[in-house]
Amino acid sequence: MPSSKWRSLAVVCAVASAAASVLIATPAHADGTLRGHAVERGKFIGAAIATTPLANETAYRNIASTEFNQITAENAMKWESTEPNDNQYTFTGADQIVNFATQNNQQVHGHTLVWHSQTPGWVQGLNATNMRAAMNEHIATVVGRYANNATVVSWDVVNEVFDDNGNMRQSFWFNTLGQSYIADAFRAARAADPNARLCINDYNVEGINAKSTAMFNLVQSLRAQNVPVDCVGFQGHLAIQFGFPNDIQQNMQRFANLGVQVRVTELDVRMQTPRTAAKDTTQAQYYTNVINACNAVTACAGVTIWGFTDKYSWVPDTFSGEGFALIYDNNYAVKPAYTAVHNALDGGTPTNDTTPPTTPGTPTASAITSTGATL
Ligand code: XIL
Repeated sequence: MPSSKWRSLAVVCAVASAAASVLIATPAHADGTLRGHAVERGKFIGAAIATTPLANETAYRNIASTEFNQITAENAMKWESTEPNDNQYTFTGADQIVNFATQNNQQVHGHTLVWHSQTPGWVQGLNATNMRAAMNEHIATVVGRYANNATVVSWDVVNEVFDDNGNMRQSFWFNTLGQSYIADAFRAARAADPNARLCINDYNVEGINAKSTAMFNLVQSLRAQNVPVDCVGFQGHLAIQFGFPNDIQQNMQRFANLGVQVRVTELDVRMQTPRTAAKDTTQAQYYTNVINACNAVTACAGVTIWGFTDKYSWVPDTFSGEGFALIYDNNYAVKPAYTAVHNALDGGTPTNDTTPPTTPGTPTASAITSTGATL
């Protein structure tokens, strides 16, 4: 019954639990890797990985391979990286990530197929007919490339479809195609890989608020139409000056109750510079809280951190005057946030997600115009 992808997960778990069983002899909380403890929990612990340090730095490779059992390409699978020109694909970086993961018994979460950002201008300028065709073709090619690769188990099919108020983002996708692009993207991904876990991903949806409720309503409505949405990704770009979303577990659980898997996909916890010991302590508590929430929700598959070393975090480049968001410092030394993640994963009762992936639904019409429709 399980597909090759779910079998591969079992292999990863078996290998890692063999390693983990060695750890049982050591005192609780004393040592062991993040991935060893995550496997004991039935969760994954992941990191976003950048191709340049992966190629150039031994220290980066060592931590990426030993501490994590799941990897997301930070940029290498985005449209501008994989199809910079129409129908000219480059998979160098994507394959580098996937091969590294395969060598280290890790899963890859594909990120991301349809997004308003990091998508080339040639896509943005297409008319509706051509844009829909380009989207379907891009998804078929990128997902199809890894459909029989047991390492790649899931995809962010659409990313950030809402604006900050919870309205549909007025992106070039929405403005050209209308909301139907979302259902079409999921159907194309399911057609390209019947076994992949298909996610919708966004930020500022960790707690219960207008945006996460809009996401909830969309997921509920898509599933009612047999659109194969399997998973909701909460990015988790948090900042200590904004407070912690204390209802994160409750929010995850309401999505789980819809029958979807949930996961934290891009966790980081930034602070305003300068870094201080007190801010490190607050940051560590945020990491603890997120891991605890995922531990407490059976349908939460795991947590991916958006990088692991402050040396390569996107935060200082994006949020002026902020930084130090990750669990290792610039010199690859562990921070209190590392210990927080470690201890939150260590011990406790396993809560494996058993949410089944959706099967291809009954075809439903979308993109209905006066002259045609998409099934
Ligand atoms: C970021 C990367 O970390 C940067 O290197 C890049 O320059 C811009 O994108 N939400 C997402 C991620 O879904 O893809 C983004 O990653 C961070 C916000």
